[in-house]
Amino acid sequence: MIKGFKDNLAEQRERLKISEQIVNNRIHNSPFGEKTKALTRKWSQYESFGGVGWGVFEITPVIERAEGAYLYDADGKEYIDLLSGFSVSALGGCNKEITKIIQDQAGKLTHFFDLPHVERVKLAEKLTKLSRIKEKTRVAFGVTGSDAIELAVRAARYYTGQPYIFTAYGDYHGLTYGTMGLTGKGCLD
Ligand SMILES: Cc1ncc(COP(=O)(O)O)c(C=O)c1O
Repeated sequence: MIKGFKDNLAEQRERLKISEQIVNNRIHNSPFGEKTKALTRKWSQYESFGGVGWGVFEITPVIERAEGAYLYDADGKEYIDLLSGFSVSALGGCNKEITKIIQDQAGKLTHFFDLPHVERVKLAEKLTKLSRIKEKTRVAFGVTGSDAIELAVRAARYYTGQPYIFTAYGDYHGLTYGTMGLTGKGCLD
């Protein structure tokens, strides 16, 4: 018998479901040092299992600091970060030049509601030029990946006039209300 959408979804939900016992076993059997294990235990007590970490990975270390492509956990164990960060910030950890720019800006202006400020105007111009879109274009800022996905869905619907968006089983597109409808992992225990 061919499995339908509902069966696949139920199977996937079951696979991604995490209990306290599963989490405790994973921590117990993890290859980390004692400080890292204690922090992972604390993490599991205070943060929802619905985040990316528990659903996608068996267990992850608790990182304390970074130097370029190297990461160090709470016990000082060294790891190589083959992504050198993640998605939009794949710039390595604590790059000296970037750290200086962040420190300087933190001393000038850190947050200004949703209104223009000097760096925002400069960044909008820079991103628009980097996009290489020939027609007149503008940038829309967001603060999360989910924002970006929701904007992409809205743009796709606007330009195609079609309502449907296809996604794959086991996918991850974010945890906002809009992206939850596209994300396979639906467990927020
Ligand atoms: C592929 C993908 N899409 C969307 C998101 C959602 O991003 P955010 O958690 O910033 O909303 C992530 C975040 O990990 C992601 O990896």
